[in-house]
Parts: sequence; structure tokens; C-alpha cells
Amino acid sequence: MSRQLSRTDNLIQQFDTILRTLVPHAASASRANPAVGTQDAEMTDAERRHAAGLMRINHTGEVCAQALYQGQGATAKLHETREQMEQAAAEEIDHLAWCDERLCELNDRTSYLNPAFYAASFGMGALAGKLGDNISLGFVAATEEQVGRHLDDHMHKLPVGDRRSRAILEQVRTDEAHHERWALEAGGSRFPAPLKFGMRMMSQVMTRSVYKL
Ligand SMILES: [Fe+2]
Ligand SMILES: [Fe+2]
Repeated sequence: MSRQLSRTDNLIQQFDTILRTLVPHAASASRANPAVGTQDAEMTDAERRHAAGLMRINHTGEVCAQALYQGQGATAKLHETREQMEQAAAEEIDHLAWCDERLCELNDRTSYLNPAFYAASFGMGALAGKLGDNISLGFVAATEEQVGRHLDDHMHKLPVGDRRSRAILEQVRTDEAHHERWALEAGGSRFPAPLKFGMRMMSQVMTRSVYKL
């Protein structure tokens, strides 16, 4: 009976996370928005649209992160690292909420493609989880490495006047580097270059489509 109940609880919790991830403005951060106290300099309309395109990509990246963690959580054993993985997933919720808040400030919206990317990422996370903890943690590390490079690129591409987006991305960058270190220290396998190349190609599909859509 209690096993039945906990499964139901689990399903409800999963469904709640899916809703909080995919419904705009439904996620709330547990930490203060890093942009608090930072003022933007002047931006043209075109610069604001460009900033919104970049922040939409970052928001979708966080949707994918939630889905990866959820997918892994559903299949991985993760006896010793489940708690840390849940902590990392909670930080990704902060990132998701901050990017969403920034898109609102820029009078823009999250991506229409988020449900599709959520589903694809959940599947990849679940597969990695099935393949074992080392693969699962290695997947987190490889993903975070890629996200870190991509955030560095975005911090260069953001309009100079967009100080609030930059403040958010700096904190996100710090958190992602921490997730990568943790995953490797916890025993994550280092993925071979061709696999990382494949992951980079997939993320390019995401960034190109989500910038506009
Ligand atoms: Fe994140
Ligand atoms: Fe992360």
C-alpha cells in the first residue's frame, strides 16, 4: 500500500515538475535573481530583440536540463549521488525562472518548441540513466561543459547595454561549472570527443531554431 502511495506521489511530483518547467512563469526561484540591483544601459529595439533571442535559447537550455535530470532520476540508481543531483536540478529551476523573468522584462516570450525539447531531453536522460551511474554522471559533465562554452559565447554576443541578462548568465555560468566538477568527482565518465561532437551538433539544432521560435 505504502509502495503504491509513494509511486503515486512520485508521478504527481514528476507531473508538477513538467508543468513548472513548461508553463511560462510557473517556475519560481529559491535564490534571489542575480540581476537585482543591476540597471541596463540604453538598448535599441533590435538589441532588445537580439538579447531576447539569446535568453530564449538559455531558457530552453534550462528546460532541457530539467528534462535530463528528470529522465535520469526516473531510471538511474544513483544511490550516493541522488541528493546532489536533486540539488543541481533545484539550481536549474532557479536558472529557468531567472531566464523567464528576463524574457518578461524584455517583453518577449519563451520558445514554442519547449515541449518537443523537453521530451527529447527526457528520453536522452532516461537512456543515460539506464546505462549506469558513470554514464549518467558523465552525461551531466559533458552537457555542462558544453553549456559553459555556450554561455561564454552568449555573454560576448549580448548587447553591451544588457547588463541584467549578463548578471544572470554570470551566476548561471558559476553554477554550471560547479555541476560539471561535481559530476566528474562523483565518478562521471569522460565522454570521447566524437560523442561530444554529436552533442554539440544537436545543441546547434536547438539554438538555431529557438532564437526565433
Ligand atoms: Fe542551468
Ligand atoms: Fe547545470
